[in-house]
Amino acid sequence: MSPFLVTRTLPEDATSAALRADVLHGLTGNPKTLPPKWFYDARGSELFERITELTEYYPTRAEREILIDRAAGIAAATGARTLVELGSGSSEKTRHLIDAFPGLKVYVPVDVSESALTQAGQALVAERPGLAVHALIADFTARLELPDTPGPRLVAFLGGTIGNLLPAERAEFLASVRALLSPGDALLLGTDLVKDEGVLVRAYDDAAGVTAAFNRNVLSVVNRELGADFEPDAFDHVALWDAEREWIEMRLRSRDAQTVKIPALDLAVEFAAGEELRTEVSAKFRQDGVRGELAAAGLELTHWWTDGGGRFALSLSVVP
Ligand code: SAH
Ligand code: AVI
Repeated sequence: MSPFLVTRTLPEDATSAALRADVLHGLTGNPKTLPPKWFYDARGSELFERITELTEYYPTRAEREILIDRAAGIAAATGARTLVELGSGSSEKTRHLIDAFPGLKVYVPVDVSESALTQAGQALVAERPGLAVHALIADFTARLELPDTPGPRLVAFLGGTIGNLLPAERAEFLASVRALLSPGDALLLGTDLVKDEGVLVRAYDDAAGVTAAFNRNVLSVVNRELGADFEPDAFDHVALWDAEREWIEMRLRSRDAQTVKIPALDLAVEFAAGEELRTEVSAKFRQDGVRGELAAAGLELTHWWTDGGGRFALSLSVVP
């Protein structure tokens, strides 16, 4: 079997310090917010995998369709020997890419979810003899240090996860990705596209309530990690389309007035009846916007592929 290595780039207490800082900042602000990266404990990662199988949640199917059609072209255009994947999760769609790269030596999945990384990494090394897997438990919005592996490198950021960053965070993130690339390397970016409001809202408010459970799970994470006493069922799941900013917002709406205690922060948080806590934005894109954001980070878009329904896009960009 080929090697499987896991590196934790931050000590475990750094994660809990970051959670404490985010919860303190987010729940004492107005409006209240929490950053979406805290959805993904083991249960959250499992719930996300269930979301990808829902009829209403088209992005995963649309992106897989593009990957199946275009993987050989992506391999030919990049000739990558190392594939780095940010927010790799289950690495399920990535298999189409890995299989299409004849010269691929190393796969470097990067994720905050240790459970998702180890499951995916172990399965991949068992299935793909000759491929080394070096997993990084890391926050991709922090300064990333990649292992020293053979170039050219392809950095993939799939699923539309870039849309979960706010515009200023996206600019900073893309500049930091640019800094990781040398001439000859490339970025493969998945972006969900602007479309009919009804289709978008249904994708984030499915009939079976899986997305609602995913959304409420962030409260269970705060309960477990910081000893808080959130009652997840006292909050309603809300998904709405912001037509001006062109993003979906997920919120949790407090059904009644309530006070939540967070002992680890020595904090009591008051919620008014109907008050909403923003837990995620999921921005939707147009080609010109993606090209412009890449250019602002010093990257040149060279390829743009969409699925047959024009719902989702993959773009390839390089250091000019
Ligand atoms: N790429 C996969 C998974 C998308 S879900 C797909 O397309 O289906 C988003 C993934 O990004 C999750 O696995 C989550 O744990 C990870 N993630 C979210 N924020 C992150 C961050 N700041 N740093 C590293 N990983 C993050
Ligand atoms: C990971 N990310 C791209 C998903 C999205 O569609 O924004 C997360 C998600 N949130 C609700 N459903 C899925």
